[in-house]
Amino acid sequence: MIARSRDLHEPGDWDSEYHAPALVGPLLELLGRSRLVLDGTLGGGGHSAALLDAGVPRVVGVDRDPEALAAATSRLAAAVANGRFAAWRGNYADVDAIPALDGLLFDGILLDLGISSHQIDDASRGFSFREGAPLDMRMGDDAERTAAELLNEADERELDHIFRDYGDEPRAARLAREVVRRRASRPFASSDDLVGAIRGTLGPRSGASEFARLFQAVRIAVNHELTGLERALPALRDRLSPGGVLAIIAYHSGEDRMVKHAFREWSRDCVCPQRQPVCTCGGANALGEVLTRRAIVADENEVARNARARSARLRAWRRGA
Ligand SMILES: C[S@@+](CC[C@H](N)C(=O)[O-])C[C@H]1O[C@@H](n2cnc3c(N)ncnc32)[C@H](O)[C@@H]1O
Repeated sequence: MIARSRDLHEPGDWDSEYHAPALVGPLLELLGRSRLVLDGTLGGGGHSAALLDAGVPRVVGVDRDPEALAAATSRLAAAVANGRFAAWRGNYADVDAIPALDGLLFDGILLDLGISSHQIDDASRGFSFREGAPLDMRMGDDAERTAAELLNEADERELDHIFRDYGDEPRAARLAREVVRRRASRPFASSDDLVGAIRGTLGPRSGASEFARLFQAVRIAVNHELTGLERALPALRDRLSPGGVLAIIAYHSGEDRMVKHAFREWSRDCVCPQRQPVCTCGGANALGEVLTRRAIVADENEVARNARARSARLRAWRRGA
């Protein structure tokens, strides 16, 4: 099916059992006229499918999770067969280390950060706080430690940093101390151990939203998500062809802040140190322009249908021609 992007703005059109992609309509507005798109977080291939159906001639997908690659290539088998779609295993932060992408420039690049619904739903992957789930949380085998290993090995300071900076937890130091105290008698192995430490620190009234936030903090640490994004931003910017657009959907405030600052920084005409009173660089140094003055968010219809879309923030930046 080939259709123009404005025919495809109904949220839900691209949902699969694997994942329901967020903000498909605005994303098609931004990338739907591209000739070659890199989908750096392929997942179940929902965004890629939408781009292909909107008429983008070629899409290349990357994911660090082999299960995502299998699901997306099966879903997009027709596009694989006619050469419009190919998928590669890798980390978008190391785009230059993926041989199949050597030398390619893209006029659209998409990151839809975080994890897919399938990864959460599969209890054996250990992303959820469901009772008895293993503490794994690795998105792919390029993450060197499981969540259990991290919680059992990290020192109190590192745990404090994870809960505070990735989990926005005001009682991070106490939670870190509690983890260290509990693991001395019994190593952390399942979700119940982390839930127990959270309850033990935040009190018995703590519930799903605290667990979700603090499990997400551990997941971010296990997969080096923030440091990866920091490395990825300039690398992906440099893979845009002139006039190409980088679009990023973030679900975590730290990631969204990092994207916003990078896009703003790359769009500055003057690159003199901010405290320097007089410009000596001559201005006109902007590498491109921010396309989204404010992050694009899902409307209430989309949120009613897909709760995960509630925290999605889409920002885009265009490289100068
Ligand atoms: C939110 S899902 C993407 C869903 C996808 N847009 C769709 O429509 O189905 C994020 C995906 O990105 C992958 N991922 C996360 N960080 C990654 C990284 N650094 N490199 C490659 N893939 C990554 C995850 O394994 C997951 O499959």
